[in-house]
Amino acid sequence: MKNKTNTDSAAFSFSRRGFIKTAGPTAAAAMAGRVDEAAAEMEHSRKPKVVGPTAVPVELTINGQRHRLAIEPRVTLLDVLRNHTGHTGSKKACDRAQCGSCTVLLDGESVNACMMLAITAEGRKIRTIEGISANGLTPLQKEFIKHDALMCGFCTPGFVTSLTALLEQVPHATDEQISEACAGHLCRCGTYPNVLKAARAAAGR
Ligand code: FES
Ligand code: FES
Repeated sequence: MKNKTNTDSAAFSFSRRGFIKTAGPTAAAAMAGRVDEAAAEMEHSRKPKVVGPTAVPVELTINGQRHRLAIEPRVTLLDVLRNHTGHTGSKKACDRAQCGSCTVLLDGESVNACMMLAITAEGRKIRTIEGISANGLTPLQKEFIKHDALMCGFCTPGFVTSLTALLEQVPHATDEQISEACAGHLCRCGTYPNVLKAARAAAGR
């Protein structure tokens, strides 16, 4: 009679070397498969997400109010403000980042809305001239009037927006800081000296 224990023991006795010989290639193949899979996943995640060209849903927060819109990804923030949400205070002049008329604040920093796709402003706080003066004219705007810092007024919202960003961060801004905030803003009527006077006065100088 066979010794059952010995037979079983022989059937399942693998040496360490034998195990590695058998399992090694299988494990390596499995590992290679996982690596390929991970590489494919990484490759996929690196690919830019393509949206459009048709309208896509976008939610913009403008002056504290949420706007749910359907817009084509190619549309600029300026066009959305002016044509979709009724914020016409931001002006369209050059439409190519040369005049500053379209300036808005994005998370407190001034940006040219004509140079930005609206979909990239999702999740950011957009503040326009309407939001800045929501509670009436600001001290800076009053200084603009007092110092005759506007003629046609087309450039004025842009100047006021950039200077507001500066004065909120640096209430007693220096001349240099004021000039820097006004850089990139063009006034076809030539009101620059009075804009600077108004800004200085608003800075308490
Ligand atoms: S309209 Fe945007 S910079 Fe001129
Ligand atoms: S006041 Fe006319 S463009 Fe500046």
